[in-house]
Amino acid sequence: MCGIVGYIGYREAYPIVIKGLKRLEYRGYDSAGVMLYDGEELKLCKTKGKVSDLEKKASKAITTNGTIGIGHTRWATHGVPNDVNSHPHLSNSGDLAIIHNGIIENYAPLKEELIKRGYVFHSDTDTEVLVNLIEEVQKKENLKLGKAVQVALNQVVGAYAIAVFDKKNPNEIVAARLGSPLAIGVGEGEYFIASDASPFIEYTSNAIYLEDGEMANIRLHKAMKIRKIKDDSLVDPYIQELQMNLEQIEKGGYDHFMLKEIYEQPNVIKDTYRGRLHANEGIIQMAGVEDNLEKFLNADRIIIVACGTSWHAGLVAEYIFEEFARISVEVEYASEFRYRNPIINSKDVVIAISQSGETADTMAAIKLAKEHGAFVFGVCNVVGSSISRETHAGAYTHAGPEIGVASTKAFTTQITVLTMIALRLAKAKGTLSNSAFHAYLQELEIIPEKVKEALETNEKAKEIASVFKDAPNCLYLGRGYNFPVALEGALKLKEISYIHAEGYPAAEMKHGPIALIDEQMPVVVIAPKQGHYDKIVSNIQEIKSRSGKIIAVVTKGDTQVRELADYVIEIPETSDALSPLITTIPLQLLSYHIAVMRGCNVDQPRNLAKSVTVE
Ligand code: AGP
Ligand code: GLU
Repeated sequence: MCGIVGYIGYREAYPIVIKGLKRLEYRGYDSAGVMLYDGEELKLCKTKGKVSDLEKKASKAITTNGTIGIGHTRWATHGVPNDVNSHPHLSNSGDLAIIHNGIIENYAPLKEELIKRGYVFHSDTDTEVLVNLIEEVQKKENLKLGKAVQVALNQVVGAYAIAVFDKKNPNEIVAARLGSPLAIGVGEGEYFIASDASPFIEYTSNAIYLEDGEMANIRLHKAMKIRKIKDDSLVDPYIQELQMNLEQIEKGGYDHFMLKEIYEQPNVIKDTYRGRLHANEGIIQMAGVEDNLEKFLNADRIIIVACGTSWHAGLVAEYIFEEFARISVEVEYASEFRYRNPIINSKDVVIAISQSGETADTMAAIKLAKEHGAFVFGVCNVVGSSISRETHAGAYTHAGPEIGVASTKAFTTQITVLTMIALRLAKAKGTLSNSAFHAYLQELEIIPEKVKEALETNEKAKEIASVFKDAPNCLYLGRGYNFPVALEGALKLKEISYIHAEGYPAAEMKHGPIALIDEQMPVVVIAPKQGHYDKIVSNIQEIKSRSGKIIAVVTKGDTQVRELADYVIEIPETSDALSPLITTIPLQLLSYHIAVMRGCNVDQPRNLAKSVTVE
């Protein structure tokens, strides 16, 4: 899940490539590299570390410039992150340069074969095998780059988004994709290639998203040719007009993208329901749902597939769908679902949830569900992403670019979309009373105001963070709708502060985790007034009796929990079903402040990547 950038045109390529890599660093950031062509020579600079390290190194190493360049920010799959394994990789002759996102699964036998033919490998990557395979094909069959790439890719098993440059024919970059995303920005006399459109947004709003199995010959001053890798058939390029703007992908005065994205939630939740929710008229209208209403209504069950935070949003949706629309729901980790021969049939509706729309496991789960005849509906954030295109229909979350690796606004907007779907189905099925239906619509409409109010817990979250920042462990407990929020709170803390944290249904605590509680253990309990309040008060008593340190998220004005808890965070009141949209806010802030106080890299936590396009 590396990030790739390429440029071919009339401007200096280096600053475009570097800036583009910075925007793509969410995809991987263990090493980076750039190749420039100045009309005579290939200049290569690669380093372990971040794009800023590359810049430092390149300022000494790269003396010439050029109007053609490719760059890469890596999330290693084959070979440790070091200078040599960084991309771009050159072929043995030094003529070809490649950047690659993905995995060449059959790289080992290909490598063996190439070694027999005299090729020498400098890195441990699968990518270096691919560039040499292309070279071998090119030499053996005396082919131009595009054709050689095509022949080589037909021998490859795995996933890739690649850009390849050949010094012998320097007016061209060849790009191809299968399983990893690739966008091409089309400007006047210039082209951009990137894993998503963010690197070229200030230069052009015209983009072509390559489909799986397609390749493009991108030539200066010539029309681009797109063809299918398998059978060479030509494809008409579909140029899309991009909706995002530059401001959306910059930090806007916040210290971190994560904080910016947390604070964007009131607005983006509004963006999510804008034009879809008409509370006064009692209408919910989402094209993807309306067009397929019968499928939803006839479904025996809904299967939700997702990973990580999106999976947690799916769990919240399970409670909501079952309660509102009385449809049985199963929520599956996409990675398990795809490999366990699940029972799926044509009367199932599968909902795939993914912020990036690129998660490989979720994508594979979708394909499996489609093979079994299920109707697959996508809930994605990234417009034009692979999952949004692979699903039969869907609804975008419209949260805008989420750059911080820790998902925040994606979670709340996913829940918003899923709640709207559940409400629409409830109306059609008559499973909610008229008054309840209208009340939920009204409430959803004012949720952004309540989220705004919940953001006022920031100072309190900071104070609590300063007390618990050095804790080695933390427990998160919640019941009902707030059990998935407990899981999400724990995931946020783990991924950005590296504190071990577990989320549990509060009542499950006494079946095991209670053994962990002592005076050292912070326990975050989500205890809003609605829901199973009395039960959770009893759970808090149980923690108190064992001297655990209680941090409780409570409804404003609560007195009962306040007496028991060490710290309380007050949030505005809302119904039980919509409470995850509110209770999750202070937990995001708490993990954010703890991570900052521990000196962690909040936006780019270790070992993680924003978009997991490998299994
Ligand atoms: C969330 O904070 C994580 N970084 C991660 O669990 C993420 O939610 C997961 O990888 C799924 O990503 P997706 O929504 O883009 O499919
Ligand atoms: N397999 C390549 C490498 O390890 C690319 C990795 C990726 O896209 O995640 O360098």
